[in-house]
Amino acid sequence: MRGKFITFEGIDGAGKSSHVEWLAELLRQKGLVVRVTREPGGTELGEKLRELLLHSSMHLETETLLMFAARREHLAKVIEPALARGEWVVCDRFSDATYAYQGGGRGLDRAKFQQLEHWVHGHLQPDLTLLFDLPLDVARERIVLASRVLDRFEQERADFHERVRQAYLERAHSAPSRMRVIDAQQSIEDIRKLLEKIVSSICL
Ligand code: TYD
Repeated sequence: MRGKFITFEGIDGAGKSSHVEWLAELLRQKGLVVRVTREPGGTELGEKLRELLLHSSMHLETETLLMFAARREHLAKVIEPALARGEWVVCDRFSDATYAYQGGGRGLDRAKFQQLEHWVHGHLQPDLTLLFDLPLDVARERIVLASRVLDRFEQERADFHERVRQAYLERAHSAPSRMRVIDAQQSIEDIRKLLEKIVSSICL
C-alpha cells in the first residue's frame, strides 16, 4: 500500500521544525517506516540549491524556479519512491511555502505558481498539511531569542511576513480537508496532543 505524505508549514519562528521529528517518532512507534525530509533541500542537489536560495540574492522568478527545480528532484529521488514503497514521508515545507513566500510575500503572479505546481506535481498533493500559525510579533521574538545568523527570508521586514502569514491562511481556507491550522501559541504538550489526534483521524 502507498504511504502517506505529511507536510509542515508556517511563518519563520512558528516552531514547526521541533514537531517534525516528534511526529515521525510517534508514527514509527505505530510500526510505520517514516522518512523525514525538508525543502528546499532533501537531496544532495537540493541542499546545494538551498544554500543558494537562503543566502544569495536573485530575481523572484529565478527564486521560484529554483524552489520548484529542487522540488522536482526531491519528488523524483526521494518522495515518490518512498511513498511507492509504502513508507510515510514527513516533509518540513513543500509547495504551500512557495505559494505563501514567493506568492504572498514577494507578489509572484498566482497563475505562474499554478503552472509550476501543475507541471512539477500535478498528480500529487500532501495527504495532510499542518500549518503552524501565530501572531507575527510572537514569531519574531522566537527568532530573535534563537540568536543565530538569519537567512534571506528571516531578514525580510514585518510586512513581508504578515503577507506570508495571510497567504498561508488563505490557502488553508481553500483546501480545508488537506490543511489543518494549528495555533502555535499553545504549549508544546497541547500541540502534540492535537497533532496525534489529527494524524490518527486522517491518516491511520
Ligand atoms: P525553514 O524551514 O524555515 O528552515 P530553518 O528552519 O532551517 O530556518 O526554510 C527556509 C526558508 O525557505 C524559509 O524562510 C521559507 C523559505 N521557503 C520559501 O521561501 N519558499 C519555498 O518554497 C520553501 C520550501 C521555503
